[in-house]
Amino acid sequence: RAPIRIAPSILSADFGRLGAEVQAIDEAGADYIHVDVMDGHYVPNLTIGPMVVKALKPWSKKVFDVHLMIAPVDPYIAAFVEAGADIVTVHAEAGPHLHRTVQLVKSLGAKVGVSLNPSTPPEVLDYVLPDLDLVLVMSVNPGFGGQSFIPSQLDKIRILRARIDATGRDIDLEVDGGVTPETAALVAAAGADVLVAGSAAFKGGAAAYADNIARLRAGA
Ligand code: DX5
Ligand code: ZN
Repeated sequence: RAPIRIAPSILSADFGRLGAEVQAIDEAGADYIHVDVMDGHYVPNLTIGPMVVKALKPWSKKVFDVHLMIAPVDPYIAAFVEAGADIVTVHAEAGPHLHRTVQLVKSLGAKVGVSLNPSTPPEVLDYVLPDLDLVLVMSVNPGFGGQSFIPSQLDKIRILRARIDATGRDIDLEVDGGVTPETAALVAAAGADVLVAGSAAFKGGAAAYADNIARLRAGA
């Protein structure tokens, strides 16, 4: 498989200087820029909308990996694609018509991901998996950075790795929540391709970012 990719979550960046933070984490070696969008309804926190994605886009040419923790999600997908989202990831639990939502993202020309909360079984993807570009396993309950990794998710990562391989398609397996150099080793061994890291990537200020990313890569 391709080498592990690191997707720093700007949720843990300094929101007062977000453009400069995106540039700094890009230059420190980020592969994707992971953007956590929260609506105070699907998850108990509020973050940013498409205007901010659009404002950040000129600060990095890396893949904008936009993780939508919002419900309903369909009415906002076009705005995020227009703002510059390269990958749009929705939650399987956020609406009753996941297949429709997946097709909507694809029809707008973006890559599509589906995320599963810790309590959601991998079977919910059985009939959409070949259509996806990315599967995102949440290893914390979504809503906040800085939580502890939930070890039971390793089993789900292994199951999804096998199911993705069985499709023969190029589908990223991304893991989000509590990823540190220590848990990165477990997550990578279980079969993840892309590691999201918020607090572990942004700790210590810009001077530490390259080292933080290197440690995540080395751990994996
Ligand atoms: C949680 C978000 C994550 C979060 C990860 O709802 O989806 O991307 O920012 O933060 P850490 O790496 O600190 O657990
Ligand atoms: Zn996320």
